[in-house]
Amino acid sequence: MRTPIIAGNWKMNNTQKQTAALIAELRPLVEGAESEVVVCVPYTSLAAARKAVRGSNIKLGAQNVHWAESGAFTGEVSASMLKELKVEYVIIGHSERRQYFGETDATVNARIKAALAAKLKVIACVGETLDERMTGRTEQVLEEQIIRGFQGFKTREFDKIVIAYEPVWAIGTGKTATAEEANATIAFIRKTVAKKFSPLIAGRLRIQYGGSMNAKNAKELMAMPEIDGGLIGGASLKAEDFSKVVNYNNN
Ligand code: PGA
Repeated sequence: MRTPIIAGNWKMNNTQKQTAALIAELRPLVEGAESEVVVCVPYTSLAAARKAVRGSNIKLGAQNVHWAESGAFTGEVSASMLKELKVEYVIIGHSERRQYFGETDATVNARIKAALAAKLKVIACVGETLDERMTGRTEQVLEEQIIRGFQGFKTREFDKIVIAYEPVWAIGTGKTATAEEANATIAFIRKTVAKKFSPLIAGRLRIQYGGSMNAKNAKELMAMPEIDGGLIGGASLKAEDFSKVVNYNNN
């Protein structure tokens, strides 16, 4: 059995004050949820979020991490800095990082390595662009992202990794992959992990869907056998919407 994991990706939203208020509103709404609940907040909100989630079932996540322990990397944050703030999860390789900040499979690989070494859990993002899907390259692209992104990892390290499958064309666009499409692509990702790493690990690996997942479509997506959770952008910024995704079975 894979425990579902619903993670909010706040992106560049919410000051410390707004963070405290949103989490305070969210806490009672997700209490006792069957899924694991995570909020991935901006660096500047981590301390406020840590305080706000204390004593609740909401886990704290960051949105990126650098591969070096320290040094001349202006604007970057290391894994030990996140650990000190009691961060549990970190998103790595989000398509916005790949698109706007030059993230590659090699940097994704290095960041995941550093995160795991510091005992952070990782939400590693993969996904194809619209052009790649239209030209029939989805599987090739995903396979490359998986092989390069996880290159050199030991099978047991996958226990600390969640993969988020996020078709780039579905992020923030209101267009979701259909539940069947998402399920089939996630099945392909699992098959690839089985083939390249280990079938045992692949069976245990949690794979989320992300891309315009919301209160309305969460139940249908989560009913799919391959989909083990969601990475939620826009709908994670309102407590009620996000809680409905978390409690997808009650919708
Ligand atoms: P969205 O974002 O839910 O707003 O589409 C998802 C994500 O980028 O993780």
